[in-house]
Amino acid sequence: MTLTIALSKGRLLTGAEALFTKAGLAFPPQDTRRLIVEAGDLRFLFVKDMDVPVYVEYGVADAGICGSDVLFEAGSDVLVPLDLGFGRCRMVLAAHPSSGFAAAWPPTVRVATKYANVARAFFETRGLAAEIVKLQGSVEIAPGLGLADCIVDMVETGRTLRENGLDEVEEIAATSARLVVNRASDHIKRGEVAALIARLRACL
Ligand code: PRP
Repeated sequence: MTLTIALSKGRLLTGAEALFTKAGLAFPPQDTRRLIVEAGDLRFLFVKDMDVPVYVEYGVADAGICGSDVLFEAGSDVLVPLDLGFGRCRMVLAAHPSSGFAAAWPPTVRVATKYANVARAFFETRGLAAEIVKLQGSVEIAPGLGLADCIVDMVETGRTLRENGLDEVEEIAATSARLVVNRASDHIKRGEVAALIARLRACL
């Protein structure tokens, strides 16, 4: 019985390949546009990062690798047995220095983000009304163009914030790559799933 593993071609792919190679596991070549690739006794699906937990929750993939930012946002019912340690980033609220956000919250806030659920929850816990403008990326330009008062987004080096004139106001979460596993696969393919987890854990 083989395992199906969902990956995204985004920023976690290099770390995933390094980890699988170190663990002596097969990893698909990247010189193909095929989105379902068999390598060794594993089958890999290449999907959008936000879709990794969806494929795993529905059991189309037995396991997957995605950022904890994606897990927070998707809220999928999956097992998360391992923090893989790579792909460390921070999810932050950021705004223009002139916004006054750091000193006091305005009564209503318009937030541009890919992470609508995370942003909504963040403002709810502060008892603030937030209007979410959902974007698919490049959210750093939204405040300067008047589309939003602030953004919720990922920061790795801080360069994108800096070069678009935004300041970090507050860190919402530290994030990193996680191994996610389908609940049924964890029972039905217990041996294979346990072996995968053990081999990856040994390399962390
Ligand atoms: C991510 C994130 C920021 C940027 C942060 O974008 O959304 O825009 O990286 O990196 P930095 O702190 O090192 O500058 P990504 O490249 O994934 O593209 P996106 O705009 O489509 O989200």
